[in-house]
Amino acid sequence: MAKVITFSIYKGGTGKTTSAVNTAAALAEAGKRVLLIDLDQQAQATKYVGIDPDTSPLNIAQVFIQNVPIRLAIQKTAFGFDVVGASDVLSAVEAMLESGKDEGLLREKVEALSADYDFILLDTPPGKDKLTFNALIAAQQIIVPVSAEKAAIDGLADLIKHLHTVLWPKYGLDQDIRILFTMYKAGTSHSPGIVNSARKIYRENVLSVVIPEAIAFPRSYDARQPMTIFAPSHAGTLAYRDLASWLQT
Ligand SMILES: Nc1ncnc2c1ncn2[C@@H]1O[C@H](COP(=O)(O)OP(=O)(O)O)[C@@H](O)[C@H]1O
Ligand SMILES: [Mg+2]
Repeated sequence: MAKVITFSIYKGGTGKTTSAVNTAAALAEAGKRVLLIDLDQQAQATKYVGIDPDTSPLNIAQVFIQNVPIRLAIQKTAFGFDVVGASDVLSAVEAMLESGKDEGLLREKVEALSADYDFILLDTPPGKDKLTFNALIAAQQIIVPVSAEKAAIDGLADLIKHLHTVLWPKYGLDQDIRILFTMYKAGTSHSPGIVNSARKIYRENVLSVVIPEAIAFPRSYDARQPMTIFAPSHAGTLAYRDLASWLQT
């Protein structure tokens, strides 16, 4: 049975897509069967792995709108893992989903693939989208990427409060939440200060792996190659490999 992990925080630009793609690549490199599902209408995870959202045959939007079996929307990447892509048609899905009623749809679709993968990773859009709630409910584990540089701590509290007060009671859930600090600047006191104060509050839920800030990340996105291929021995690549190892324990 696949372990389903959602990369989510309502704040944008904190490293959700970068973390989902590079964790998928690191897990695949370690020989795991991995599926990445892109739920963001900006389709950045889809583009990152070299798929053009506008010309690709089927994506997650059709899976919702036309009830196409999710299996038919799976595409192979050149990086050893599979993807269900996104496109801007997802805005129609967002409009179609009924608030308070349709949050469990993705969970059913993902369960149908559970025997085929070791890990199913979900990349979510920023904001309190119904698709994000779908992804949160579908997951066994929630990894919350937080920028150590931009102090996205408020966004973290917002997500955790929403899980505790709304989604968990409603769906009878109690998921494992792990905070992943990204864009960490080692040479300053700012980033370590943010991480240390988060550890005081969230303790072991703060992952010991931190992702360094590096220009190689946006460059790897521009090259349409995950870090494992683009910069195999970069410190940022090693950090995502450490995260992948931890996920396999
Ligand atoms: N560790 C990092 N160091 C430097 N830049 C990063 C890092 N992680 C992500 N980025 C860059 O920051 C921007 C936002 O990251 P992204 O993963 O798209 O965030 P989100 O999906 O949360 O909106 C992108 O340009 C990305 O390349
Ligand atoms: Mg993103």
